[in-house]
Amino acid sequence: MSIAEKFEELYGSAPEGVWAAPGRVNLIGEHTDYNDGFVMPFALPHTTVAAVSRRTDGVLRLHSADVEDGVVELRVDEIAPRSDTGWTAYPAGVVWALREAGHAVTGADIHLASTVPTGAGLSSSAALEVVTALALDELYELGIERPQLARLCQRAENMYVGAPTGIMDQTASACCEDGHALFLDTRDLAQQQIPFDLAAEGMRLLVVDTRVKHAHSDGEYGKRRAGCEKGAALLGVTALRDVAYDELDAALERLGDEEEVRRLVRHIVTENHRVERVVSLLKAGDTRAIGPVLNEGHASLRDDFRISCAELDLVVDTALSAGALGARMTGGGFGGSAIVLVEAVDAETVTKAVEEAFAAAGYTAPRVFTAIPSAGARRLS
Ligand code: GLA
Repeated sequence: MSIAEKFEELYGSAPEGVWAAPGRVNLIGEHTDYNDGFVMPFALPHTTVAAVSRRTDGVLRLHSADVEDGVVELRVDEIAPRSDTGWTAYPAGVVWALREAGHAVTGADIHLASTVPTGAGLSSSAALEVVTALALDELYELGIERPQLARLCQRAENMYVGAPTGIMDQTASACCEDGHALFLDTRDLAQQQIPFDLAAEGMRLLVVDTRVKHAHSDGEYGKRRAGCEKGAALLGVTALRDVAYDELDAALERLGDEEEVRRLVRHIVTENHRVERVVSLLKAGDTRAIGPVLNEGHASLRDDFRISCAELDLVVDTALSAGALGARMTGGGFGGSAIVLVEAVDAETVTKAVEEAFAAAGYTAPRVFTAIPSAGARRLS
Protein backbone atom coordinates (compact mmCIF):
# COMPACT_ATOMS: atom_id res chain seq x y z
CA MET A 1 0.00 0.00 0.00
CA SER A 2 1.37 3.44 -0.90
CA ILE A 3 1.68 6.17 1.72
CA ALA A 4 -1.21 8.06 0.10
CA GLU A 5 -3.42 4.95 0.15
CA LYS A 6 -2.60 4.37 3.80
CA PHE A 7 -3.47 8.01 4.53
CA GLU A 8 -6.84 7.56 2.85
CA GLU A 9 -7.52 4.39 4.81
CA LEU A 10 -6.68 6.17 8.09
CA TYR A 11 -8.36 9.52 7.53
CA GLY A 12 -11.06 8.84 4.92
CA SER A 13 -9.85 11.00 2.02
CA ALA A 14 -6.75 11.40 -0.15
CA PRO A 15 -3.92 13.59 1.22
CA GLU A 16 -3.41 17.06 -0.23
CA GLY A 17 0.22 16.16 -0.85
CA VAL A 18 3.19 13.93 -0.04
CA TRP A 19 6.63 15.23 1.01
CA ALA A 20 10.02 13.66 1.84
CA ALA A 21 12.95 14.82 3.98
CA PRO A 22 16.25 12.92 4.27
CA GLY A 23 18.54 11.87 7.07
CA ARG A 24 22.13 13.07 6.84
CA VAL A 25 25.68 12.02 7.45
CA ASN A 26 28.27 14.58 8.50
CA LEU A 27 31.53 14.47 6.55
CA ILE A 28 33.41 16.77 8.93
CA GLY A 29 32.67 19.48 11.52
CA GLU A 30 31.42 17.81 14.70
CA HIS A 31 29.95 19.72 17.65
CA THR A 32 30.96 22.94 15.95
CA ASP A 33 27.38 23.92 15.14
CA TYR A 34 26.51 25.21 18.61
CA ASN A 35 29.80 27.12 18.61
CA ASP A 36 28.81 29.20 15.54
CA GLY A 37 31.31 27.14 13.52
CA PHE A 38 31.52 25.20 10.26
CA VAL A 39 29.96 21.87 9.31
CA MET A 40 29.82 19.78 6.15
CA PRO A 41 26.99 17.28 6.05
CA PHE A 42 25.31 15.67 3.07
CA ALA A 43 21.85 14.15 2.71
CA LEU A 44 21.29 10.41 2.54
CA PRO A 45 18.88 8.63 0.20
CA HIS A 46 17.01 7.47 3.32
CA THR A 47 13.97 9.68 3.94
CA THR A 48 10.97 10.26 6.13
CA VAL A 49 7.88 10.62 3.97
CA ALA A 50 4.72 12.43 5.08
CA ALA A 51 1.24 12.43 3.55
CA VAL A 52 -0.54 15.52 4.84
CA SER A 53 -3.83 17.42 4.65
CA ARG A 54 -4.84 20.64 6.37
CA ARG A 55 -7.61 20.88 8.95
CA THR A 56 -9.48 23.98 10.05
CA ASP A 57 -10.79 22.74 13.42
CA GLY A 58 -7.60 22.94 15.51
CA VAL A 59 -7.08 19.17 15.54
CA LEU A 60 -3.69 17.58 14.81
CA ARG A 61 -3.83 13.87 14.00
CA LEU A 62 -0.57 11.94 13.75
CA HIS A 63 0.12 8.41 12.62
CA SER A 64 3.36 6.59 11.90
CA ALA A 65 3.82 3.39 9.95
CA ASP A 66 6.87 2.65 12.10
CA VAL A 67 5.30 2.56 15.57
CA GLU A 68 2.20 0.85 16.89
CA ASP A 69 0.56 3.82 18.54
CA GLY A 70 -2.43 4.09 16.24
CA VAL A 71 -3.63 7.61 15.44
CA VAL A 72 -2.61 10.15 18.10
CA GLU A 73 -4.96 13.13 18.35
CA LEU A 74 -3.89 16.48 19.81
CA ARG A 75 -5.28 20.03 19.81
CA VAL A 76 -2.95 22.64 18.30
CA ASP A 77 -3.88 25.24 20.92
CA GLU A 78 -3.11 22.86 23.76
CA ILE A 79 0.27 21.49 22.70
CA ALA A 80 3.04 22.98 24.82
CA PRO A 81 6.77 22.30 25.29
CA ARG A 82 7.57 19.00 26.97
CA SER A 83 3.87 18.01 27.02
CA ASP A 84 4.41 14.86 25.01
CA THR A 85 7.28 12.44 24.74
CA GLY A 86 8.16 9.89 22.13
CA TRP A 87 8.01 10.31 18.36
CA THR A 88 4.92 12.58 18.31
CA ALA A 89 6.91 15.32 20.08
CA TYR A 90 8.82 16.01 16.84
CA PRO A 91 5.89 16.77 14.50
CA ALA A 92 3.85 18.32 17.32
CA GLY A 93 6.90 20.44 18.26
CA VAL A 94 7.07 21.74 14.70
CA VAL A 95 3.40 22.75 14.78
CA TRP A 96 4.06 24.48 18.11
CA ALA A 97 7.13 26.31 16.73
CA LEU A 98 5.26 27.46 13.61
CA ARG A 99 2.35 28.78 15.68
CA GLU A 100 4.74 30.42 18.16
CA ALA A 101 6.33 32.23 15.22
CA GLY A 102 2.90 33.63 14.33
CA HIS A 103 1.91 31.27 11.52
CA ALA A 104 -1.76 30.36 11.46
CA VAL A 105 -1.58 26.58 11.33
CA THR A 106 -5.08 25.40 12.19
CA GLY A 107 -4.54 21.65 12.28
CA ALA A 108 -3.48 18.74 10.08
CA ASP A 109 -3.82 15.06 9.41
CA ILE A 110 -0.39 13.50 9.00
CA HIS A 111 0.75 9.97 8.17
CA LEU A 112 4.49 9.27 8.26
CA ALA A 113 6.79 6.46 7.19
CA SER A 114 10.59 6.47 7.43
CA THR A 115 13.60 4.60 6.10
CA VAL A 116 16.09 6.65 8.16
CA PRO A 117 17.62 4.36 10.81
CA THR A 118 16.75 5.63 14.30
CA GLY A 119 19.34 6.12 17.06
CA ALA A 120 22.13 5.68 14.51
CA GLY A 121 23.30 9.32 14.49
CA LEU A 122 21.81 9.81 11.02
CA SER A 123 19.27 12.50 11.98
CA SER A 124 16.01 10.62 11.90
CA SER A 125 14.62 13.33 14.22
CA ALA A 126 15.58 16.15 11.87
CA ALA A 127 14.02 14.29 8.93
CA LEU A 128 10.77 13.97 10.87
CA GLU A 129 10.78 17.65 11.83
CA VAL A 130 11.72 18.96 8.39
CA VAL A 131 9.20 16.88 6.47
CA THR A 132 6.44 18.13 8.78
CA ALA A 133 7.60 21.74 8.52
CA LEU A 134 7.92 21.69 4.74
CA ALA A 135 4.51 20.11 4.23
CA LEU A 136 2.81 22.67 6.48
CA ASP A 137 4.81 25.54 4.96
CA GLU A 138 3.61 24.62 1.47
CA LEU A 139 0.02 23.70 2.37
CA TYR A 140 -0.52 26.85 4.44
CA GLU A 141 1.49 28.94 1.94
CA LEU A 142 3.69 30.36 4.67
CA GLY A 143 6.58 31.19 2.32
CA ILE A 144 9.31 30.32 4.83
CA GLU A 145 12.82 30.09 3.34
CA ARG A 146 14.62 26.78 3.88
CA PRO A 147 17.25 28.04 6.37
CA GLN A 148 14.50 29.63 8.49
CA LEU A 149 12.45 26.46 8.24
CA ALA A 150 15.49 24.63 9.66
CA ARG A 151 15.69 27.19 12.50
CA LEU A 152 12.04 26.57 13.39
CA CYS A 153 12.70 22.83 13.45
CA GLN A 154 15.73 23.35 15.70
CA ARG A 155 13.54 25.43 18.01
CA ALA A 156 11.04 22.56 18.14
CA GLU A 157 13.83 20.17 19.10
CA ASN A 158 15.43 22.53 21.66
CA MET A 159 12.32 23.91 23.32
CA TYR A 160 9.58 21.36 22.74
CA VAL A 161 11.47 18.05 22.75
CA GLY A 162 14.13 19.44 25.10
CA ALA A 163 17.32 18.33 23.29
CA PRO A 164 19.94 21.13 23.20
CA THR A 165 21.15 20.39 19.66
CA GLY A 166 22.60 22.75 17.05
CA ILE A 167 21.35 23.68 13.58
CA MET A 168 23.31 21.22 11.40
CA ASP A 169 20.90 18.32 11.05
CA GLN A 170 17.80 20.33 10.21
CA THR A 171 19.70 22.48 7.71
CA ALA A 172 21.18 19.40 6.06
CA SER A 173 17.76 17.81 5.70
CA ALA A 174 16.19 21.03 4.41
CA CYS A 175 18.96 22.38 2.17
CA CYS A 176 21.23 19.63 0.83
CA GLU A 177 21.47 18.94 -2.90
CA ASP A 178 21.96 15.76 -4.84
CA GLY A 179 25.65 14.98 -5.52
CA HIS A 180 26.87 17.68 -3.13
CA ALA A 181 28.04 18.18 0.43
CA LEU A 182 26.83 21.32 2.18
CA PHE A 183 29.50 23.67 3.55
CA LEU A 184 27.52 25.58 6.15
CA ASP A 185 28.54 28.48 8.32
CA THR A 186 26.27 27.96 11.32
CA ARG A 187 26.69 31.58 12.44
CA ASP A 188 24.79 33.17 9.58
CA LEU A 189 23.63 30.00 7.78
CA ALA A 190 25.65 30.98 4.67
CA GLN A 191 25.84 27.93 2.43
CA GLN A 192 28.01 26.55 -0.34
CA GLN A 193 27.13 23.39 -2.21
CA ILE A 194 30.39 21.49 -2.81
CA PRO A 195 30.31 18.82 -5.55
CA PHE A 196 30.95 15.46 -3.87
CA ASP A 197 30.75 12.55 -6.28
CA LEU A 198 32.99 9.82 -4.89
CA ALA A 199 31.79 7.14 -7.32
CA ALA A 200 33.08 9.18 -10.27
CA GLU A 201 36.53 9.18 -8.64
CA GLY A 202 36.55 5.46 -7.83
CA MET A 203 35.87 5.86 -4.11
CA ARG A 204 33.07 5.22 -1.65
CA LEU A 205 32.03 6.52 1.71
CA LEU A 206 30.77 3.72 3.93
CA VAL A 207 28.47 4.37 6.85
CA VAL A 208 28.95 1.85 9.65
CA ASP A 209 26.08 1.92 12.13
CA THR A 210 27.51 0.36 15.30
CA ARG A 211 23.97 -0.35 16.57
CA VAL A 212 24.97 1.30 19.83
CA LYS A 213 22.01 3.62 20.46
CA HIS A 214 23.02 7.16 21.23
CA ALA A 215 20.83 9.58 23.17
CA HIS A 216 21.19 13.34 23.42
CA SER A 217 19.03 13.75 26.45
CA ASP A 218 21.31 11.72 28.70
CA GLY A 219 23.16 14.91 29.51
CA GLU A 220 26.60 14.29 27.98
CA TYR A 221 25.79 16.36 24.89
CA GLY A 222 24.55 19.19 27.09
CA LYS A 223 27.67 18.98 29.26
CA ARG A 224 29.92 19.39 26.22
CA ARG A 225 27.83 22.33 25.08
CA ALA A 226 28.01 23.99 28.50
CA GLY A 227 31.79 23.39 28.61
CA CYS A 228 32.21 25.09 25.22
CA GLU A 229 30.12 28.05 26.41
CA LYS A 230 32.28 28.30 29.52
CA GLY A 231 35.39 28.30 27.30
CA ALA A 232 33.98 31.15 25.18
CA ALA A 233 33.12 33.14 28.32
CA LEU A 234 36.60 32.63 29.84
CA LEU A 235 38.17 33.74 26.57
CA GLY A 236 35.84 36.73 26.23
CA VAL A 237 34.44 35.76 22.82
CA THR A 238 30.84 35.37 21.62
CA ALA A 239 31.44 31.75 20.58
CA LEU A 240 34.46 29.47 20.14
CA ARG A 241 34.18 30.11 16.42
CA ASP A 242 35.81 33.45 17.20
CA VAL A 243 39.07 31.81 18.30
CA ALA A 244 41.22 31.71 15.15
CA TYR A 245 43.30 28.60 14.48
CA ASP A 246 46.57 30.50 14.75
CA GLU A 247 45.49 31.96 18.09
CA LEU A 248 44.82 28.53 19.58
CA ASP A 249 48.05 28.18 21.57
CA ALA A 250 47.65 31.60 23.13
CA ALA A 251 44.01 30.82 23.98
CA LEU A 252 44.96 27.51 25.61
CA GLU A 253 47.58 29.29 27.65
CA ARG A 254 45.01 31.79 28.87
CA LEU A 255 42.79 28.95 30.04
CA GLY A 256 45.52 27.94 32.50
CA ASP A 257 44.61 24.88 34.54
CA GLU A 258 41.03 24.55 33.21
CA GLU A 259 42.05 21.18 31.72
CA GLU A 260 38.62 20.02 30.59
CA VAL A 261 37.70 23.34 28.99
CA ARG A 262 41.10 23.42 27.25
CA ARG A 263 40.38 20.05 25.62
CA LEU A 264 36.94 21.16 24.43
CA VAL A 265 38.32 24.41 23.04
CA ARG A 266 41.14 22.59 21.25
CA HIS A 267 38.67 20.25 19.57
CA ILE A 268 36.36 23.02 18.36
CA VAL A 269 39.11 25.27 17.04
CA THR A 270 40.97 22.46 15.25
CA GLU A 271 37.70 20.98 13.95
CA ASN A 272 36.65 24.27 12.34
CA HIS A 273 40.08 24.33 10.70
CA ARG A 274 39.59 20.75 9.48
CA VAL A 275 36.31 21.70 7.80
CA GLU A 276 38.08 24.51 5.97
CA ARG A 277 40.88 22.13 4.94
CA VAL A 278 38.40 19.57 3.59
CA VAL A 279 36.58 22.26 1.63
CA SER A 280 39.87 23.45 0.06
CA LEU A 281 40.94 19.91 -0.79
CA LEU A 282 37.61 19.08 -2.41
CA LYS A 283 37.61 22.33 -4.37
CA ALA A 284 41.13 21.50 -5.57
CA GLY A 285 39.99 18.04 -6.68
CA ASP A 286 42.32 16.39 -4.15
CA THR A 287 39.63 14.16 -2.65
CA ARG A 288 41.86 11.33 -1.43
CA ALA A 289 43.78 13.80 0.73
CA ILE A 290 40.74 14.31 2.98
CA GLY A 291 41.34 10.85 4.47
CA PRO A 292 44.01 11.93 7.00
CA VAL A 293 41.88 14.95 7.96
CA LEU A 294 39.00 12.62 8.82
CA ASN A 295 41.40 10.55 10.96
CA GLU A 296 42.57 13.65 12.83
CA GLY A 297 38.93 14.54 13.43
CA HIS A 298 38.30 11.17 15.01
CA ALA A 299 41.34 11.41 17.28
CA SER A 300 40.18 14.83 18.42
CA LEU A 301 36.64 13.61 19.18
CA ARG A 302 38.03 10.59 21.00
CA ASP A 303 40.82 12.20 23.02
CA ASP A 304 39.83 15.86 23.42
CA PHE A 305 36.05 15.93 23.16
CA ARG A 306 35.75 12.42 24.63
CA ILE A 307 32.55 11.35 22.93
CA SER A 308 33.65 8.22 21.10
CA CYS A 309 33.10 4.68 22.38
CA ALA A 310 34.83 1.31 22.02
CA GLU A 311 32.67 0.24 19.06
CA LEU A 312 33.32 3.47 17.09
CA ASP A 313 37.06 3.26 17.81
CA LEU A 314 37.06 -0.36 16.64
CA VAL A 315 35.44 0.61 13.32
CA VAL A 316 38.02 3.35 12.75
CA ASP A 317 41.08 1.31 13.76
CA THR A 318 40.00 -1.81 11.86
CA ALA A 319 39.05 0.10 8.71
CA LEU A 320 42.37 1.94 8.62
CA SER A 321 44.35 -1.28 9.18
CA ALA A 322 42.37 -2.88 6.33
CA GLY A 323 43.39 -0.11 3.92
CA ALA A 324 40.74 2.62 4.25
CA LEU A 325 41.78 6.15 3.22
CA GLY A 326 40.24 7.72 6.33
CA ALA A 327 37.63 7.10 9.02
CA ARG A 328 35.89 8.88 11.86
CA MET A 329 32.85 8.76 14.07
CA THR A 330 30.04 10.98 12.80
CA GLY A 331 27.18 12.78 14.56
CA GLY A 332 26.66 13.42 18.24
CA GLY A 333 28.77 10.51 19.55
CA PHE A 334 28.48 7.87 22.31
CA GLY A 335 27.41 5.32 19.70
CA GLY A 336 25.67 5.77 16.38
CA SER A 337 27.68 5.61 13.18
CA ALA A 338 31.19 5.98 11.80
CA ILE A 339 32.10 6.93 8.23
CA VAL A 340 34.87 5.22 6.28
CA LEU A 341 36.40 6.59 3.07
CA VAL A 342 37.63 3.76 0.85
CA GLU A 343 38.80 3.06 -2.66
CA ALA A 344 35.78 1.37 -4.27
CA VAL A 345 37.85 -1.75 -4.92
CA ASP A 346 38.62 -2.05 -1.18
CA ALA A 347 35.05 -1.56 0.04
CA GLU A 348 34.34 -5.25 0.44
CA THR A 349 37.61 -6.09 2.22
CA VAL A 350 37.19 -3.21 4.64
CA THR A 351 33.54 -4.08 5.34
CA LYS A 352 34.47 -7.69 6.01
CA ALA A 353 37.32 -6.70 8.31
CA VAL A 354 34.98 -4.50 10.38
CA GLU A 355 32.31 -7.20 10.55
CA GLU A 356 34.86 -9.76 11.67
CA ALA A 357 36.33 -7.45 14.28
CA PHE A 358 32.82 -6.85 15.71
CA ALA A 359 32.11 -10.57 15.81
CA ALA A 360 35.47 -11.25 17.50
CA ALA A 361 34.74 -8.57 20.13
CA GLY A 362 31.30 -10.04 20.79
CA TYR A 363 29.49 -6.89 19.58
CA THR A 364 26.15 -6.83 17.74
CA ALA A 365 26.78 -7.03 13.98
CA PRO A 366 27.10 -3.51 12.51
CA ARG A 367 24.97 -2.30 9.59
CA VAL A 368 27.14 -1.10 6.71
CA PHE A 369 25.99 0.81 3.63
CA THR A 370 27.41 3.15 1.00
CA ALA A 371 26.36 6.77 1.50
CA ILE A 372 25.26 8.48 -1.73
CA PRO A 373 24.94 12.29 -1.46
CA SER A 374 21.26 12.86 -2.16
CA ALA A 375 18.61 15.56 -2.43
CA GLY A 376 17.25 17.57 0.49
CA ALA A 377 13.58 17.87 1.46
CA ARG A 378 11.08 18.01 -1.40
CA ARG A 379 7.47 17.52 -2.45
CA LEU A 380 6.83 14.11 -4.02
CA SER A 381 3.25 14.55 -5.17
C1 GLA B 1 23.88 16.05 16.78
C2 GLA B 1 23.21 17.41 16.84
C3 GLA B 1 23.86 18.40 15.90
C4 GLA B 1 25.38 18.42 16.08
C5 GLA B 1 25.95 16.99 16.09
C6 GLA B 1 27.42 16.97 16.42
O1 GLA B 1 23.66 15.48 15.53
O2 GLA B 1 21.84 17.29 16.52
O3 GLA B 1 23.31 19.67 16.08
O4 GLA B 1 25.74 19.13 17.23
O5 GLA B 1 25.27 16.17 17.03
O6 GLA B 1 28.15 17.56 15.41
